[in-house]
Amino acid sequence: MAKIRGKILVVWYLTFSMCILYIAYSTMYLASSVHLAETRLTFKPTFGPCARMVLTTTNAAYLEMAENMLTSIQLVRTPSFPNVTVIAEDEQSYEYMTNLTKFHQGLIVQKTKAGMTSSENLKVKTKEHQYQQFVKRRPRYVLEFLEKGYDVLFADADTFWRKNPFNDDDFKGDFDIAAHDEVDRPKTPLFCAGFVYYRPTNNTISLVREWVKLLDTTDKNTLDQFVFNSLINRELDKNVTGGLKMKTLDPVKYPDGKLYYRVPGWRDEHINQTIVMHFNFLHELDSKVEKIKKLGWWLV
Ligand SMILES: *[C@@H]1O[C@H](CO)[C@@H](O)[C@H](O)[C@H]1NC(C)=O
Ligand SMILES: *[C@@H]1O[C@H](CO)[C@@H](O)[C@H](O)[C@H]1NC(C)=O
Ligand SMILES: *[C@@H]1O[C@H](CO)[C@@H](O)[C@H](O)[C@H]1NC(C)=O
Ligand SMILES: *[C@@H]1O[C@H](CO)[C@@H](O)[C@H](O)[C@H]1NC(C)=O
Ligand SMILES: *[C@@H]1O[C@H](CO)[C@@H](O)[C@H](O)[C@H]1NC(C)=O
Repeated sequence: MAKIRGKILVVWYLTFSMCILYIAYSTMYLASSVHLAETRLTFKPTFGPCARMVLTTTNAAYLEMAENMLTSIQLVRTPSFPNVTVIAEDEQSYEYMTNLTKFHQGLIVQKTKAGMTSSENLKVKTKEHQYQQFVKRRPRYVLEFLEKGYDVLFADADTFWRKNPFNDDDFKGDFDIAAHDEVDRPKTPLFCAGFVYYRPTNNTISLVREWVKLLDTTDKNTLDQFVFNSLINRELDKNVTGGLKMKTLDPVKYPDGKLYYRVPGWRDEHINQTIVMHFNFLHELDSKVEKIKKLGWWLV
């Protein structure tokens, strides 16, 4: 017993020291250079879980949904759980989310730097164009934190967390990006951009940089998910040593709406294995809320 405790202490101490070293090094590095955009990649170490974060976004239409997700996170968080950053797209969301920080541990609220929107009712499909503009900002936020050296778990607001994913083996091991694949093999993968774990590696950062650039330029009208996947598949096709390493999250633990609603019996059989459920494959916000309520998972 004492031996094991000793070992745990040693491991803890090593991790802690590496984090401190890493933070000190990053700070020194950042202080010593100003025009970093390209060079920042050179110091990118993967020292493990010392700087990770959960990232999500919301606007006025998604406030309750986002609060529901954040509440589910409160129920599964442990003392080592990372902070959760919410990017608010409008003033109303910013104020509402800031109020929530009184009750939600580790919640950090930021205003978007891409210009606040005055969205009253940005529901999926009802205002398709505006909604696409909203989700298209996701990669930019992800990039900002990757460049600061964070491991970023990006989650759409329409996810519900039943267990702590940071304890799960799917988040361990050697990979650049872990995501849920919406199709079955041997089909070309189609990763969902709404629940993704990004490590701040060279491979990840160059991919996300290009993703942002394409969404700003040639692929203005393409869904961000398709651009994301064409970049991923292009990298995977290269099949080179040291190339992009994708990890497919286990769909039993990270299911999507397709499995939950379209495959008869699947949900009842697997519901206790769900770690994070993504309520996608439903276009209307109201139908998402209705499904969540039916499961008894509406907490706000
Ligand atoms: C990351 O990229 C930089 C420059 O592009 C390179 O010097 C460095 O060795 C790369 N790091 C890894 C781990 O590949
Ligand atoms: C979480 O945020 C708080 C307040 O900004 C900060 O002091 C703390 O170091 C952060 N924790 C982690 C694990 O990033
Ligand atoms: C935030 O809290 C303040 C004080 O409790 C309240 O007056 C305000 O209406 C709240 N704002 C929102 C957007 O909920
Ligand atoms: C990737 O390359 C290796 C050899 O370098 C080869 O054995 C393997 O079949 C290739 N995989 C694909 C999917 O092309
Ligand atoms: C899921 O867990 C609940 C509560 O522990 C239990 O009643 C139910 O039988 C479980 N369902 C399955 C399919 O294992």
